[in-house]
Amino acid sequence: MESLRRGPRFSSIRLHCRALAQPRRCFLPNNLRVRTLQTHSRSSTASRQQPHPPLVFAFDIDGVLLRGETVLPAAKRALARLEGANPTGLKIPYILITNGGGISEEDRCRKLSKQLGFDIKPTQYVQSHTVLKSVVHKYAEKPIMVFGGKFDEVRKVAEGYGFEKVYTTLDVMAWNPNVWPFHELTAEERASTKPVDFSRTPISAAFVFHDPRNWALDVQILCDLVQSGGIIGAPYLPVSEQNKVDLVFCNPDLLWRAAFDRPRLGQGAFREAFQAVYHALTGKRYPYVQYGKPSEVTYKFAEKVLVDRLEELSGRRPAVSPEVYMVGDNPESDIAGANAAKWSSVLVRTGVFDPAQGPPAHTPTHIAEDVEEAVEWAIRREMERAG
Ligand code: G3P
Ligand code: MG
Repeated sequence: MESLRRGPRFSSIRLHCRALAQPRRCFLPNNLRVRTLQTHSRSSTASRQQPHPPLVFAFDIDGVLLRGETVLPAAKRALARLEGANPTGLKIPYILITNGGGISEEDRCRKLSKQLGFDIKPTQYVQSHTVLKSVVHKYAEKPIMVFGGKFDEVRKVAEGYGFEKVYTTLDVMAWNPNVWPFHELTAEERASTKPVDFSRTPISAAFVFHDPRNWALDVQILCDLVQSGGIIGAPYLPVSEQNKVDLVFCNPDLLWRAAFDRPRLGQGAFREAFQAVYHALTGKRYPYVQYGKPSEVTYKFAEKVLVDRLEELSGRRPAVSPEVYMVGDNPESDIAGANAAKWSSVLVRTGVFDPAQGPPAHTPTHIAEDVEEAVEWAIRREMERAG
């Protein structure tokens, strides 16, 4: 883990950027008033040949920028810095990568822009299920069941991605309330349902998009689906390649930081609850695919979003891979994933990670009090590296 000499603040950036203002070094056209902060040159000879990697940030949301619906004050100050509120007027590109979800990227970005006070575009935003856009082709026409979120919001997200036959566990309750006798659909829930005969609708895959609201109902229906080859209410069959229902989870977080003083159970805890019941029933764990941070798929997807964002800002693809700083509150997802992606990682103390519980399970490049301190530290580090 690294700590830095407490150098002068942004004034050093001013000095440095003047040196960088030579057109051949900065790959952004002047009229964009956006200049990326070129990072350290690995070695002087190399830098003469090699363009400098652009400095970019990747921010987690819950526990870093927000706690529940509350915006953390350090978040606005940190983003203000990156949006140019610094002596250089430089804008430093950043994206948001969250294991949250449940609504479309466009809707979430609209909401985040209002909360944070800066225009957050869908081209700089990755949520837990965004990566599913890359698997739609496998299931487009096949009936799928989606889990999580409120009412049929995740159905709309799935249809927005291109899934055509999308059902929810509330649809199942509307079809036959005896499926789960301990819950009665509310009027709002019933209004979100679609009429369908599940005895004639073989479900090919179950996608847990977001944190389920009714764990008991969802565990019951997931057990029905995977034990009957996808036909709810049909006799249970031994699981085989022929009748296997694909199971995909989009967020592995056992814990996450919301508005309550202690971390809350996340989608990963729902996954373990399902697996515990399935194991009690069958003596086995049900095979599944896991997306979301720290999965390699999600970080690779995010890296592509980052590079596309740099191209969007500069009008051309960066000549070299960016120098990415991931700022997160969860060692298991944010830090583990960033370390595996060979990014720099900064762990903040405003979320899941509690120093009183001992050192983090995954060692970050640095630990900071909050996101503002994390941004300051990263920029100073790049300035010092640039020498
Ligand atoms: O449900 C969201 C939660 O698991 C964590 O979200 O933004 O900290 O990745 P985030
Ligand atoms: Mg978080």
